[in-house]
Amino acid sequence: MADILKKDPHKVMSNFVKMICVGIISLWSCSANAESSVVNNADIKKNDILQKGEYLFHISGCETCHTKPNGKFLAGGRPFFMEKKGIVYSSNITPDQKTGIGNYTNDEFVTALQKGIGHKGKHLYPVMPYYAYTLMNRDDILAIKIYLDQQKPIHNVVPKRDMAFPYNIRGNVAFWNWINSSNRRFENDNTQSKEWNRGKFLVQGPGHCAYCHSPLNWSNAHSEKQAYSGYKFENWEAYNISSDTDTGIGAWSDQALEQYLKTGYTEGHGAATGPMAEMVGHSLRYLTDNDIRSMVVYLRSIPPQEKGEEASMVNAEELKNVEPSRSHGSRLFAGNCGSCHLTNGLGRQSDYASLWGSRTATMTTGKNLVRTILDGSSIENDPLGKVAMPAFRDSLSDQDIADIANFVIAHFGNRNGHVTAEQVKDQRTEPHGYELFMKSQSN
Ligand code: HEC
Ligand code: HEC
Ligand code: HEC
Repeated sequence: MADILKKDPHKVMSNFVKMICVGIISLWSCSANAESSVVNNADIKKNDILQKGEYLFHISGCETCHTKPNGKFLAGGRPFFMEKKGIVYSSNITPDQKTGIGNYTNDEFVTALQKGIGHKGKHLYPVMPYYAYTLMNRDDILAIKIYLDQQKPIHNVVPKRDMAFPYNIRGNVAFWNWINSSNRRFENDNTQSKEWNRGKFLVQGPGHCAYCHSPLNWSNAHSEKQAYSGYKFENWEAYNISSDTDTGIGAWSDQALEQYLKTGYTEGHGAATGPMAEMVGHSLRYLTDNDIRSMVVYLRSIPPQEKGEEASMVNAEELKNVEPSRSHGSRLFAGNCGSCHLTNGLGRQSDYASLWGSRTATMTTGKNLVRTILDGSSIENDPLGKVAMPAFRDSLSDQDIADIANFVIAHFGNRNGHVTAEQVKDQRTEPHGYELFMKSQSN
């Protein structure tokens, strides 16, 4: 009995109530008792589904896309720039009847997430990763809906999409879907372990890692052939996360990878910035340790793809002995960055500011490095709350930023950076991140 109780106390209790019922003469009072226990069970079940929905909601990263920076929770309006096509704004997915998804039926909601077809047959652009969510089954998706139904309805009309012809015609997405979107649920591969299967479901399905990490193929879908060999998001470079030891994450230990995914920082690889920081803050930090481990098991099995630059590894011991150069970049680093980032690679107040071993600090293109200096970055984590780096866009010139970036690459990566003032100028005006964000703020 004790063992059974451990397994499923609610079921045992209801059986217990039934047993007493059989033995007692007053049938009426008994059935009343049994009924109330049924009600309790239903409540408990509902609560379980709500929790499951909340968990899947987090893994899926719905919050990141459907909440505008500094905007109201799930009220939408975050701009998404599709190259040469235009801008789409994320929808308001609060239960507001008029401007949100309060009028979605269960079927419509399931179809939106599995097939990308929303209320009254509206085709959604594949900026919404339904082709990944399609691996979730109906129960999973309805659990997410139950969680969303509990949120505060917010009246917010999001700006209308601004797309070039013929992309402005929603119906045309049907063609993309016909070629690319599989509309199929996750199937277990019995030749693989339970952990691997769970990891594959999380990475390919709700976690939609390919969205940023897999390049596009000829038909504008994420390539399976070059899966996870690196892509981009909002002009941030999303690195190669295949198992290649030089250009991917094959050389990371399991423990380092687990810690990076769960917390956004791991010693010797630096901190997650930009979109990956959002991914950790809104999504991965909520995962159970088992799920994080399963993801790592699956990531390990992704075939190596040699693409991109090798990670440069100047270890912390060596860095202690490297004298900062007397260059302009070095002086600017000391003045602007040194209050948080030490030249020996360590963070002054927080590990998150530790640049030792970070790909972002050492890639010779300096793409994410310049982006981080221009726009700053922040990450949320449980024990620390929010850790943030300020934006330097308004206080440093293009040349200053290029000089700092080249100093950082040389000092922490022991190689020559190729960052020029022109590159910084281009990145400053890229129609993404900051610019689009400001535009969306003024709307
Ligand atoms: C990578 C960004 C991204 C993520 C992650 C994302 N969405 Fe979306 N979603 C969008 C965008 C952008 C749109 C608007 C698409 C359009 O207008 O065609 C959208 C549209 C929708 C719609 C259609 C609403 C309408 O306008 O009728 C629903 C429903 C929805 N998302 C639910 C979700 C849920 C639930 C999750 C998490 C499981 C989620 N989304 C995750 C970007 C995202
Ligand atoms: C919205 C885009 C986006 C999504 C979704 C995303 N990533 Fe990332 N990821 C990035 C970017 C951008 C970087 C580079 C971050 C930086 O510069 O610190 C990155 C970095 C990483 C790194 C560090 C690689 C290195 O060499 O430093 C790992 C590991 C990683 N991502 C794993 C994942 C996994 C696993 C998932 C799915 C659960 C995922 N990412 C989903 C954008 C994304
Ligand atoms: C007020 C403290 C602060 C200042 C000043 C600051 N940073 Fe940061 N920096 C941080 C924090 C905190 C993070 C981690 C943010 C995150 O993970 O989202 C970070 C992240 C970074 C990263 C990415 C970290 C990684 O491991 O990949 C780079 C590169 C970086 N900073 C460079 C600079 C440069 C260059 C300057 C000066 C122009 C600077 N920072 C100024 C606090 C600071």
